[in-house]
Amino acid sequence: MNKRILVTGGTGYIGSHTVVELMQQGYEVVIVDNLSNSNITVLDGIQAIVGRRPEFVNADCCDYVAMDNVFRSYPDIKGVIHFAAAKAVGESVEKPLHYYRNNMHSLTTVLELMQEHEVHHIVFSSSCTVYGQPDPEHLPVDETAPRKKALSPYGNTKQINEDIIMDQAHACASLRATILRYFNPIGAHPSALIGELPNGVPNNLLPFVTQTAAGLRDELRVFGDDYNTPDGSCIRDYIYVVDLAKAHVCAIERMLSGKTQEQVEIFNLGTGRGLSVLEIVRTFEEVTGQKLKYRIVGRREGDIEQVWADPTRANTVLGWRADTPIRDVLLSAWNWEKHLRNIK
Ligand code: NAD
Ligand code: WQD
Repeated sequence: MNKRILVTGGTGYIGSHTVVELMQQGYEVVIVDNLSNSNITVLDGIQAIVGRRPEFVNADCCDYVAMDNVFRSYPDIKGVIHFAAAKAVGESVEKPLHYYRNNMHSLTTVLELMQEHEVHHIVFSSSCTVYGQPDPEHLPVDETAPRKKALSPYGNTKQINEDIIMDQAHACASLRATILRYFNPIGAHPSALIGELPNGVPNNLLPFVTQTAAGLRDELRVFGDDYNTPDGSCIRDYIYVVDLAKAHVCAIERMLSGKTQEQVEIFNLGTGRGLSVLEIVRTFEEVTGQKLKYRIVGRREGDIEQVWADPTRANTVLGWRADTPIRDVLLSAWNWEKHLRNIK
C-alpha cells in the first residue's frame, strides 16, 4: 500500500529537507507549492539526493478547487504536512492582510479538504514565536509554558492556526494533528544540493553570516551586546534543518501507526541548548576558517533576549533528538553558500 504524504510548501527550506527524509523512508510524496518563496529547481536537488523525483503541483493552497483536484488526483494521500505559509516577521508588519489571508486561508482550505476526502492526519509547522520571551522560570521553555501575545501578524497567524487546529479536532473526532513548534532552523543538507534560499537581504542570522563570508554583504551587524546574557548578545536554540526534517517523519509515523495519545499533540523542536549570536560567529569562523567581518550595533526592535527549548517531550514521546553538532551544522550552511556562489 502506498503511504503518500501531501507536503504543502514542499519546495521551501524546511519542506524540501523533509521531503528528502520522507522519500528516503519509503514514503511517496506529492508537493503542493505556489513557488512564492522557492524555486522549481529544488526538485532537481531532491531528485539528485534521493534518486527519485517527488510529484509536484504548482498551486496555491488557498485555491479550494486546485487543492480539491490534488486530493482527487492522489486518493492515496494518508497525511498532510503543512508548511505552506508566508514567514517573514518584518514583512508581516508591513502587509498584515497578506499574512492573515495566506496563512489562515491555506490552513482552513487544507483542513476542509482533509475532512471532505477523509484524510485524518496533519502535521503543522508552528514556531517558538508563540512563547514570546518566556518568563525566567520557564527557561528552557517546555510545551506547558503560556503563549504570549504575538509581537507580529506572522506570530499571530501561528497562534490562530494552532487554535483553528484545536477547534477542528474538537469538531471532527477522526482528526489527528501534531503541532511542531520549531526553534531556529539552520544549516543545509550535507550534500549541499538543497538549502535555504533567502529572498533579497536575509533577515535571519545564518544566511546573513554565510552571505557575509561569501562577500555578498559587507559586514554582519550583531544586534546588541548589552542583553542580560553571559556575553551580552541574544541567545537562541539553533536546530539543524535535517534533524528538524526527521522529526516530521517521526510525527507522521506516530500518527499513521495510531500511537498518538491525544487528538492534538504539541512538541517543541529544539536542541535544548541556547547559543549566543557571538558564539555562533566564533564557531562559524573556527570551523570554516573564514574571518567574518562583524560590528556590534544597537538592539533590533522586537528581539527576544533569550529563548531555548526543553525538548524532553519530543525526545521521549516522539523518540526524536536533535543531536547534530553545531560545528557540522555551521559547516553545512557554509558548504551550501559555497555551492550557490560557485566558491571552491
Ligand atoms: P519557506 O518560505 O522556505 O517555505 C514555505 C513554502 O511555502 C515556500 O516554498 C512557499 O513558496 C510556499 N507557500 C507559501 N504560501 C503558499 C501558498 N498559499 N500555497 C502554496 N505554497 C505556498 O519557509 P520555511 O522556512 O521552509 O518554513 C516552513 C514553515 O515553517 C512555515 O510555515 C514557517 O512559518 C514555519 N517556521 C519556519 C521557521 C524558520 O525559521 N524557517 C521557524 C518556525 C516555523
Ligand atoms: C537570531 C539572532 C538576532 C540577524 C525569527 C522569527 C521567529 C522564527 C525564527 C519563524 C537574534 C541576531 C540576526 C543579523 C543579528 N521564525 N541577528 N544580526 O529573531 O530568533 O526568529 O526566526 O517562525 O518567528 O522571528 O531569528 O535569525 O532573525 O535572529 O545579530 O543580521 O541573531 O538579533 O538574536 P529570530 P533570527
